[in-house]
Amino acid sequence: MTSNDLIHEKVQERYGAIASGSTSSCCGETASDCCSTPVQLYEPEMLAGLPVDTVGLSLGCGDPVTIAGLQPGEVVLDLGSGGGIDCFLAARQVGEAGHVIGVDMTPAMLEKANAAKTRMGLTNVEFRQGQIEALPVADNIVDIVMSNCVINLSPDKRAVFGEVIRVLKPGGRVSISDIVTEGEFSPELRADLAQWAECVTGAIDVELYTGLMREAGFERITIVDKVAAEDIVERKEGMPRVYSARITAYKPQSA
Ligand SMILES: C[S@@+](CC[C@H](N)C(=O)[O-])C[C@H]1O[C@@H](n2cnc3c(N)ncnc32)[C@H](O)[C@@H]1O
Repeated sequence: MTSNDLIHEKVQERYGAIASGSTSSCCGETASDCCSTPVQLYEPEMLAGLPVDTVGLSLGCGDPVTIAGLQPGEVVLDLGSGGGIDCFLAARQVGEAGHVIGVDMTPAMLEKANAAKTRMGLTNVEFRQGQIEALPVADNIVDIVMSNCVINLSPDKRAVFGEVIRVLKPGGRVSISDIVTEGEFSPELRADLAQWAECVTGAIDVELYTGLMREAGFERITIVDKVAAEDIVERKEGMPRVYSARITAYKPQSA
């Protein structure tokens, strides 16, 4: 098994346990107040009408939906859709003429998301099982890729951004909320896969993150906001500063 497979396995184990109710939060027992509650992340009125389970399974670190500027009829892809909260919020905005695809690798998360979709009677949302490093999505069909607290978990962020560029239409855009750092984790801390799966040690320096986006072909990369995530991630000796950042960018029209 490669180390990337091992990371996927640990991450899937963790989110499978959360979805099936045997672990209660996205972050670890050691974190002081892990993963903000959805009420802190989203404007309260946005959550009205969502199933209680969906809101309870929100594991993001920001709100990528509000800054996405979604328009009726758009095709949206959510990387690491989890319980589906951002897909359901996006579905309201793109309407019946639009379409939302959520991709997640964890079967128990997909089950929860599909159960909520059925309960809400939504026909413009679908969930697909797959890894964000090899998206089960055709080339050039997506208007906007969103993601909330997921890319930090990937062992191959370069592959993720390459896949995002591939599936976006020319001129398409991204709206990401994610954990990033200023500075890097030591190799010893990086090797802590439990902390990796808790959205901590997989996070990379924000300059490296945006550099990988640029290398993949993105332009107009903007850090919309970047707030200290020390209420989300307990700071330990040797750790870089950790932030929750929201980032937007565009695929060139000519690509
Ligand atoms: C912290 S949760 C965030 C879920 C959701 N975006 C939200 O805001 O509630 C991370 C999710 O990403 C999924 N995930 C993590 N790494 C992944 C990967 N490499 N490929 C596909 N899904 C992944 C996990 O299964 C989990 O559901």
